[in-house]
Amino acid sequence: MKVMGRRERLGRGTLAAIEITAVALVGAGLAFAQAAPPQKPLMAEEVFKNVRALKGIPVDDFMETMGLISAALSFDCSDCHTNAGTHKVDWAADTPRKVIARTMVTMVANLNKNSFGGRQAVTCWTCHRNRDKPLVTPVFETIYGEPTLAPDDVVATAQGLPSPESILDKFIQASGGAQRLAGLTSIDGKGTSAGFGGFGGGGAVEIAAKAPDKRATIILFKAETNRGDQIRTYDGATGWVRTPLNVLGEYQLIGGDLDGARFDAQLSFPGQIKKILTNLKTGSPTTISDLPVSHSQAAVQANTAAGKTYNVDVVQGNGPRGLLVTLYFDKQTGLLARELRYSQTPIGRVPTEIDFADYRDINGIKLPFRISYVWLDGRDSILLNEIKTNVSIDETKFGRPAPLKK
Ligand code: HEC
Ligand code: HEC
Repeated sequence: MKVMGRRERLGRGTLAAIEITAVALVGAGLAFAQAAPPQKPLMAEEVFKNVRALKGIPVDDFMETMGLISAALSFDCSDCHTNAGTHKVDWAADTPRKVIARTMVTMVANLNKNSFGGRQAVTCWTCHRNRDKPLVTPVFETIYGEPTLAPDDVVATAQGLPSPESILDKFIQASGGAQRLAGLTSIDGKGTSAGFGGFGGGGAVEIAAKAPDKRATIILFKAETNRGDQIRTYDGATGWVRTPLNVLGEYQLIGGDLDGARFDAQLSFPGQIKKILTNLKTGSPTTISDLPVSHSQAAVQANTAAGKTYNVDVVQGNGPRGLLVTLYFDKQTGLLARELRYSQTPIGRVPTEIDFADYRDINGIKLPFRISYVWLDGRDSILLNEIKTNVSIDETKFGRPAPLKK
């Protein structure tokens, strides 16, 4: 049994990912960027050679399932794909573990169908919990040890709590009020990224957004000339990711990531927050804490926060196509401290967490200068040092990024 902490696993994953990129760049068969016609959704089985269990889902969702599987078992890609992280990797080749994993995908689908009325009640995480071989017997250390905070994805509504609208109104008020927010037409922030596990740190960041729903995050690595820049865009209809540290290099968002990108773009303009989610409900107030910061992050950004705990109000709502969003508002300030959003895949929900902190006043509107991202196979923390509002922003920034250089 491999005992490995999550942060370590993520660190290794990142390393593997970096080298995978090199493979993708030398054209070892995954030239997705060229193959992608902008509008037609590309299904996993059209891009990859040996997909048998996870057919019929867009490639970005397929890659998310790989992240879910890795996270559930505390594996990185190379544990199932021999030589992942080197030029010799053959993603399509079946390894013994990959074969087991495929049978487990089918097992989970059958369990949910036959025993839970088709609800996605069981996932890899249900049994595996960060281990390759699931535990079988209760462990005293767990039974009598400190409980860890592990909220249900779908929050339970409780009696006697303020309405979700009133919590959102408090946020709108705290952010500068409905009138000022209605006059917010664009945001342009500049700063640095901390990366994670020694990678992606020290990039020059620009976060640009245009009302009501365009957003781009551009990270330039000026010091590393052989490394492509990292770009995420959403232009109000389509979204793109260009992240060289990825099997695909550059790809269009089609699946759950597209809904997430749209939501983040809309949330950049908080005045519309009550319109962008449906089925709003209030969850029980709770506390949330910053995740521990890695040495590499602290080294790049000395003031990257660690260990701060907030008492929060909780609001949950739904977006399009199964997007589920939980928002945590700092009880003291009324401002948004955390967004936790989940997109749907055939083997479970994929979580993405974004923390907002260091709110400062820009022309009467409170905007976060520290934004920390956590997803299944990576983390990053962005510190802005300047935000301008209502400036004109070149439309091309929100469109498809320039292709990766070969
Ligand atoms: C626990 C085992 C396991 C881990 C860990 C894992 N995969 Fe997979 N991978 C699979 C299985 C199973 C399939 C085939 C799925 C199917 O048949 O539908 C697959 C298929 C793939 C394919 C398609 C290959 C082709 O051409 O058919 C790619 C690409 C891929 N994985 C990438 C990754 C990446 C990147 C990671 C790390 C983030 C990863 N995988 C982690 C089990 C794993
Ligand atoms: C109902 C519980 C359960 C669920 C759900 C489950 N597994 Fe498993 N899995 C097991 C058990 C039990 C074993 C160990 C079997 C053994 O001891 O031989 C195992 C073993 C494995 C192994 C072999 C690990 C090794 O020893 O190298 C892989 C890979 C795996 N599971 C992948 C998955 C994936 C991927 C999913 C989700 C699609 C999943 N499992 C969901 C119970 C589960």
